Amino acid sequence: MTPLQQIPAWQALQVQRDVLARSSLRELMQADPMRFDYFSAQFEGAGAHVLLDYSKQRIDRRTMILLDELLQARALRPAIGSLFGGAPLNTTEGRAVMHMALRGEVEDHYQADGTTVMPDVLQVRERMLAFVERVRGGQWLGATGAAITDVVNIGIGGSDLGPQMMVQALEPYCSGPRVHFVSNVDGAHLSGVLKHLDAARTLFVIASKTFTTQETMANARSARAWLVDRLGAAATGKHFVAVSTNGREVAAFGIDPRNMFGFWDWVGGRYSVWSSIGLPVALALGSAHFRAILAGARAMDLHFRDAPFERNLPVLMAAVGLWNINFLGLDALAIAPYAQNLSRFAAHLQQLDMESNGKRVQIDGQAVSYSTGPLVFGEPGTNAQHAYFQWLHQGPKVVPVDFILAAQTDSGLEDQHRLLAANCFAQSEALLRGKTADEVRADLIASGLPAADVNRLTPHRSFPGDRPSSTLLVRRLDPATLGALLALYEHKVFVQGLVWGINSFDQWGVELGKQLAAPIAASLQPGAAPGVHDASTLGLMQHWKRLREG
Ligand code: F6P
Repeated sequence: MTPLQQIPAWQALQVQRDVLARSSLRELMQADPMRFDYFSAQFEGAGAHVLLDYSKQRIDRRTMILLDELLQARALRPAIGSLFGGAPLNTTEGRAVMHMALRGEVEDHYQADGTTVMPDVLQVRERMLAFVERVRGGQWLGATGAAITDVVNIGIGGSDLGPQMMVQALEPYCSGPRVHFVSNVDGAHLSGVLKHLDAARTLFVIASKTFTTQETMANARSARAWLVDRLGAAATGKHFVAVSTNGREVAAFGIDPRNMFGFWDWVGGRYSVWSSIGLPVALALGSAHFRAILAGARAMDLHFRDAPFERNLPVLMAAVGLWNINFLGLDALAIAPYAQNLSRFAAHLQQLDMESNGKRVQIDGQAVSYSTGPLVFGEPGTNAQHAYFQWLHQGPKVVPVDFILAAQTDSGLEDQHRLLAANCFAQSEALLRGKTADEVRADLIASGLPAADVNRLTPHRSFPGDRPSSTLLVRRLDPATLGALLALYEHKVFVQGLVWGINSFDQWGVELGKQLAAPIAASLQPGAAPGVHDASTLGLMQHWKRLREG
């Protein structure tokens, strides 16, 4: 395969960067009145509507043609075929990547590594949803005969972020037990949740693909001790269920295999919310809304698989991201949902994007000589406007932004929703347009300020502008739309990883810290030998022990 930087389209894009550097975004916008029509695309499916406006990106028509050529040169179309065909794309772990099957239907006939998977997927889905309805309907009772009012999901990473984000995002649709999430090994997390709960009415979901993750198992053991303390050991059967691929460890922990909901090794942790890892989501929302989430995601899958690239939302978002990262040198991405209920969306995307594409070697083991996945961060607007947006508007570095906004609201506060939308549009406009020194000067003079103050304040009050963003505008933040939005980002990550030639589906980078933590934990026991560490780590460990004693 031709090395990425030797592909003619890559080289032409470098020239294109220099050509576009001569115009500001303001000028590009003024020069082409059709820019919005040309650089926006829509998705419609399963009742969800998503508009992607990428016209505020530093692109022109030639840029998009060249990006398309780059994607063709990296064989994107056949690669999508391999993904949907269940090929073992996770090469370092020898696994297929088949999370689309988790939201699939029987007619999709998905396979992983040549084995049909839909019958198993549908069987587990139905079993899980039947359990959900028993809990929600008050047929599944706790050991004392009390109905379940609170669910505590204990998991971390993909076994926490996705379900937590969804429960929060769809809060207006929640109708079942209250769902709490405990992830951090910091005992403050678990104890902070448990102190409000009644053991007799609490169901624990231990969610771990491997069922060996240190933090999850530590929290699960503490939760079990808390429950046994209050209701006795025999009560655990009615208060603990597991979601895992590791039946042996689940049984060893003491959870009845009949209370375990499985999934498969071809599901990556950060892609697992669609599987039984979504159990807390279904408990909160009910089966019908959970099915709608899956349907929205499935519609996005089919759009990604079949739509021409110039109308294909994941492909367009990926192409724009590649342009920003590899040609404009913009290595970060801010996620700004103008939706308070999406307050965990950026955190989920952080794992999705950064654990997938935070890689420095290609599939063949060669180091890359170009940037890969972006630094992803974000918080909802309008709060973000009073925090990191100052940096976005006037800092010396440029970070592209993904704005996300719904046209309709479930809040019932229509005027506030209009204000929210106005702020979202205003921010992307301000980032694009900026405010020149001349404009600032004119305003200050008109306000009657003395000339000396005008001169002094003008540089501080000017905005460079010229800062790119995209906007995802949806009809309503309902279950199907949320499913579609998340699947959109998943496929964007796939396309970018393909172009960079990296494996987006392993995560070896998290291993070293895990390995080092075990002996350090042993050394932190009172009286234990410190072990061999660098001077800083040793110093910190000893100081920590001294502070504990004093
Ligand atoms: O962060 C590393 C990781 O392996 C993630 O990929 C995964 O989502 C998380 O840990 C939790 O893993 P598990 O579900 O096996 O407990």
